[in-house]
Amino acid sequence: MKVRQLFDQDTWTYTYLVWDEATKEAAIIDSVKEKVERDVKYIKDLGLTLKYALETHVHADHVTGAGGLRRQLGCKVGVHADGGAKCADIQITDDQVFMVGGQEIKALHTPGHTNGDISYLIDGAVFSGDALLIRACGRTDFQQGDSGTLYESIHSKLFNLPDETVVYPGHDYDGFTESTIGEEKALNPRLGNENPKADFMNIMDTMNLPKPKRIDIAVPGNLVCGLNDADAA
Ligand SMILES: [Fe+2]
Repeated sequence: MKVRQLFDQDTWTYTYLVWDEATKEAAIIDSVKEKVERDVKYIKDLGLTLKYALETHVHADHVTGAGGLRRQLGCKVGVHADGGAKCADIQITDDQVFMVGGQEIKALHTPGHTNGDISYLIDGAVFSGDALLIRACGRTDFQQGDSGTLYESIHSKLFNLPDETVVYPGHDYDGFTESTIGEEKALNPRLGNENPKADFMNIMDTMNLPKPKRIDIAVPGNLVCGLNDADAA
């Protein structure tokens, strides 16, 4: 599977375009509304057919481009069934598999950052959204977040993947682009080295972070796949 990592400089979001080289079928993970035109051009330039626009979760920091991509390219939008995004064509459940050409995309339900988080397993790489970040993880203090649930998701699912599995996160605020499961098991200060669940929960439950700037726009926007009434006109 071919992978391209794309970046939105305003929200520090990584978008991933993945495709099967033989058939040119593609999927995009965590698109950003303001980057839809960039992504449509890129997809067309590469001669790809976009089959799916998949979300790792209902984001609080940016509005998805999935609805705009669907309108322009006819792809299907997928969000976890617990995310509450009725606009999605596919209400994804744990272990659901999508085919892009001959390549498999497997959805792993990894709740805790929100209740509807998915990590996508593709050809030896995991696209972990905000569940597992490089040397960090997503916050757990809103959108049904739960630190104990996140700990279990990471340890029972992501840390059971082979150590060499490449980790592609949903964001990075320090300029890192990818990691591996083995690296995060050894070096993630919150989750690595078998840091006990109680310690992890204590870290996450006492962070006292400010509310995300765009949450009041982003969450409602994402529940309609990034398309508001003005877009529909
Ligand atoms: Fe998030």
